[in-house]
Amino acid sequence: MIENDIFLKACRYEETDRTPVWLMRQAGRYLPEYQATRAKAGNFMGLAKSPSYAAEVTLQPLDRYDLDAAILFSDILTIPDAMGLGLSFVNGEGPQFANPLNTEQAVLDLQVADMGQLDYVFNAVKEIRKSLMQNGKQRVPLIGFSGSPWTLACYMIEGSGSKDFLNTKKMLYNRPDLMNRILDINVESVAQYLELQIDAGAQAAMIFDTWGGMLSSGDYQKFSLDPMNKIIKRIKSNKKYESVPVIIFTKGGGGWLPAMANSGADVIGLDWTIELKLARQTLDQTGKKIAIQGNVDPLLLLANPKEIERRVTESISNLADAKVNGSHPLNGHVFNLGHGINQLTPPEHVHSLIAAVKEASTRLRGK
Ligand code: CP3
Repeated sequence: MIENDIFLKACRYEETDRTPVWLMRQAGRYLPEYQATRAKAGNFMGLAKSPSYAAEVTLQPLDRYDLDAAILFSDILTIPDAMGLGLSFVNGEGPQFANPLNTEQAVLDLQVADMGQLDYVFNAVKEIRKSLMQNGKQRVPLIGFSGSPWTLACYMIEGSGSKDFLNTKKMLYNRPDLMNRILDINVESVAQYLELQIDAGAQAAMIFDTWGGMLSSGDYQKFSLDPMNKIIKRIKSNKKYESVPVIIFTKGGGGWLPAMANSGADVIGLDWTIELKLARQTLDQTGKKIAIQGNVDPLLLLANPKEIERRVTESISNLADAKVNGSHPLNGHVFNLGHGINQLTPPEHVHSLIAAVKEASTRLRGK
C-alpha cells in the first residue's frame, strides 16, 4: 500500500488532482546532510555500496521536501564497474575507469556484467523500500534506474567524461561492428539489471540517456534508441514486469519525440530545450498515451525564489494550454528538472519550486 502514488498515476497517464514532482539527482552534494553521510562513508562508492548509507541518503530529500517519488541512490556506472572496468571517482574530476575499452581486444574480451557483483544495488533497493515504510504504508514509490546502453558505452570507451566523446564517435564511424558488440552486451546487462531492481522492489524504471543527444539523427535511432527499445520490449513482454512504468530520458532528444513514442516507454523525459506544450502535442499526434517528465533548467534553482515561482508557473500554464484529445493536458506530466540538480543549488530554493508546482498544477486543473 502506497500512501502517495500520484507519481505512478501520472506515469500511467491517469487523472490526478495535481502534478507530481521529484528531481533528478535529488540526493546529492547540494544537501549538507548528504555531505555529512558521504564523509562518514569516505567516498561516493562507499555510500553506494552500503545499503544502509544508500537508504539514508535516498530518504534525505524526502524528509526535507514534499517530493512524490524516491530514487535509488546509486550510479549509472555500476554496470561497467561490474564488467571489470575499474570505476573510481576522483574528487572534483568525475568518474574514471582504470580499464577503458581502448583496444579491439578489450572490446572482444568484454562480457555481460555479472549481476552477483551488483548485489549491493539490489540490497540497497530492499533496504530503501523498508525505510520508506511509515505507519504501515510506503510513503512514496521507489524509482530504479540504469544508464542507456549508448551512454554507458560513451564512458566505457573514453574511460571518463568528455567534451566531445571523440574516441566513441571514431569507433561509431570506423568500427560499427565493435560498437554494436558493446551495445549488445550493454543491452543484456541493463535488461538484467533493471529486472533485478524490480524484483528487489523498484516500482518504476528510468533509463538515463545523457549522451544520446550528441548523435546525428539516424545514428540516434540506431545506436541509442534501438538498444533502449530492445530493453523495454524485453521488460514489457514479461508478465512480472509489464505494469512497471519505464521512463526514457535522452538529454537533447526533443527533436526525436515521434521516434521515441514507438519505443514502448510509458514516459519520456524532456530537457529544457523543448517546450512542454509542443512535446505534449507532438506525442498526442502519435495516437499513443505517453506521459512526459521534465523539464526546467536545473540552474533556474540558482535564481531568486520569486523568479523560480514565476518560471515554474509559466511552464505549467503553457502545458495547460496544450490542445490534446481526451483528458486534461496537465495529466500525464511528472514535473522534474531537465537534468540533474546542480551542487551549488541553495537547498531552500527547492521549496519554492515544489510549492509553485503544487499551487499552479492544482489551480490550473480547476480543482
Ligand atoms: O537522482 C538521484 O538522486 C539518484 C542518484 C544518481 C547519481 N547518479 C548519484 C551520483 C543518479 C540517478 C545518477 C545518474 C548518473 N550518473 C548519470 C545520468 C544522469 C546525468 O546526470 O546525466 C550520469 C551521467 C552519471 C555519471 C556520473 N556520476 C558523473 C558524471 C558523476 C560525477 C559528476 C557529478 O555530477 O558529481 C557521478 C557521481 C555522482 N553520482 C554523484 C552523485 C550524488 C556525486 C558524487 C559525490 O558525492 O562526489
